[in-house]
Amino acid sequence: MPQYAGFNWEQSVPTSGNRQPIFAFVPKFARQAWRALARLVAPRPGRRRELAPDQLPAWARAGKRRHAHIQRVAALVDEWAAEMAVSREERSRWLKAAWLHDALRDAPATRGTTHGGAAADRAAQDGESDRGVLDAVRYHSVGYAGWDDVGKMLYLADFLEPGRRSRRKQRAKLAKRVPRDRDGVLREIVALQVRARLRAGRSINPRTLEFWNSLTER
Ligand SMILES: [Fe+2]
Repeated sequence: MPQYAGFNWEQSVPTSGNRQPIFAFVPKFARQAWRALARLVAPRPGRRRELAPDQLPAWARAGKRRHAHIQRVAALVDEWAAEMAVSREERSRWLKAAWLHDALRDAPATRGTTHGGAAADRAAQDGESDRGVLDAVRYHSVGYAGWDDVGKMLYLADFLEPGRRSRRKQRAKLAKRVPRDRDGVLREIVALQVRARLRAGRSINPRTLEFWNSLTER
């Protein structure tokens, strides 16, 4: 017998002596109707998609616009997680990385580390021990050859979230393609980033090159 809101029809009916439980007298069609109703209203595990309005850590330093960007990144990884039918655990890893990645972007610069590195260190101090999440946050601006799916999904969402002004149409198309061609889109984005820096005469971070090589050496 299914339960509804913590209520179990059969167990709730007291019996004593050799009296039959009241449940036995409930007509069959009424029991079937009750079961159908309970199935209809029961929460469906694994299908919850709600995002809390604010999941930034208490130590975050993110202004209004930054916060809005982080929310869009989180919403995008959540959308992909649903479309790619990943487990709830994996989805929550992606979301955790999204909420952490720019948490210290508006904090005064810390010497010797990036805003991603500072956020990863702070999250680790707070007890975060998922290496994939911490690496995703630490290297999200440059890429990292050792990433698992969390790092890759965060990198994609950070670049493709719809609030960014440049190349809106191109980015929307790429974002749509992610669930069926994640690595193809990743290669395109890293190539775009590298090309843009080369054209501007800027240096390429060795981690970015290693990341690029890891995506092409197959
Ligand atoms: Fe970001």
